Amino acid sequence: MNKSDSEWLAGTLAEEYDYTEDKTEADFLVVNTCAVRDKAEQKFFSLLGRLRPLKAANKNLVIGVAGCMAQEHGEAIVQSEPLVDIVFGTRAVDKAHILLRKFEETGRPQVDTAYGSDYDDFPVKRESALSAWVPIMRGCGNHCSYCIVPSTRGPEQSRPMENLLNEVSGLIAQGYREITLLGQNVNSYGVGLGDGVDFPGLLRQMDSIVGDARIRFVTSHPKDLSDSLIGAMTELERVCPAMHLPIQSGSDKILKLMRRGYTAGRYFDRVERLRERIPDISITSDVIVGFPGETDEDFEATFRAVQTARYDNIFLFKYSPRPNTPAADLPGHIPGKLAQERFDRVMILQKEVTAKRLADWIGRDVEVLVDGISKRDTQRLCGRTPQNIVVNFGSREDFTGRTVRVKIMRSGQFSLHGDILP
Ligand code: 5AD
Ligand code: SF4
Repeated sequence: MNKSDSEWLAGTLAEEYDYTEDKTEADFLVVNTCAVRDKAEQKFFSLLGRLRPLKAANKNLVIGVAGCMAQEHGEAIVQSEPLVDIVFGTRAVDKAHILLRKFEETGRPQVDTAYGSDYDDFPVKRESALSAWVPIMRGCGNHCSYCIVPSTRGPEQSRPMENLLNEVSGLIAQGYREITLLGQNVNSYGVGLGDGVDFPGLLRQMDSIVGDARIRFVTSHPKDLSDSLIGAMTELERVCPAMHLPIQSGSDKILKLMRRGYTAGRYFDRVERLRERIPDISITSDVIVGFPGETDEDFEATFRAVQTARYDNIFLFKYSPRPNTPAADLPGHIPGKLAQERFDRVMILQKEVTAKRLADWIGRDVEVLVDGISKRDTQRLCGRTPQNIVVNFGSREDFTGRTVRVKIMRSGQFSLHGDILP
């Protein structure tokens, strides 16, 4: 979502400004921040330190802060960080150029963390010419007790289906080959848009207009994963067999404290159903260890869940207390050392599972959408399977942007290697 917001910001500024990746050349430099864990916030502060010499070298350099930390801290950022000139929140991205002008006129720091109301179309300057992020909704309507996102990204709001279909048709006409629909919980797409508008319906419409491009989506909340969505995924040819389905914990007690709205049993009921209906599906997950009150027993339940689920991969986190979230006030915070031990155990387990799952592809023919020339070896191309697994293979011809068939010969720690088929 942050990457997509950065593309929105670049799009907003594109009419008046040229884009550069070169920090020393920039007159306006924006840090798009994340607040989901304390570590992300610390990264921002250390980055600010590194920007100081740039400001010293270029007196006209304007520094802006965007994203969840901007939304969370607002005015406090310009007060504590004299380096920062402009702060704009998660829903004020389209006002960046206005704030910039105001700052240039007055010389005073500008802050805007208001929530705008329109949410239909916005200008986007995309990083890739092949794969496009398309946000279908913003904010989050859930209240997981550990999570800062509902307060930094605001209430959930869906984009009208018509705007989405127009945007995607345009992307296909421009040659995009992969569309990733984004939302904190795509399964609740359509709430507030009127009767009958829902995520499976959106997928159906998308499937009919994307030609042979791929459709992906993130993130799915297990509590809302309906049979109707699973049905749509089996039926619709262009929807990839991949799902990010964060479990967070394998203990019912912890899931309840997290306010996730499902039990481990119900989660596994959904996973079984997915695997039964979509045999080659890739399922990935987010897992938090060290949540307040997590006993050894609770942790073992999480460990077993990761073992049982056979995820293609996971994002693993140590619980990080966030300001103004209910979990921060729970008793039984877990000492850092213990959380780290639990983290390491799950990490080792998942590494093994990932390697095994990758090895299962050896000998199979897969369809690869080619992203480009491999960074490590210019004689090789790099692409992804419908499951989003990275495949490297040798080729004399550059097939970037095209789909080829590859026979998988060996697997590595994170990717597959194969031979292109005629
Ligand atoms: N501590 C640790 N992990 C968190 N996440 C969200 N909030 C926290 C927190 N306070 C994780 C969840 C979520 C992912 C995006 O980040 O696993 O799914
Ligand atoms: Fe945070 Fe839960 Fe919303 Fe995901 S669904 S953004 S974890 S509150």
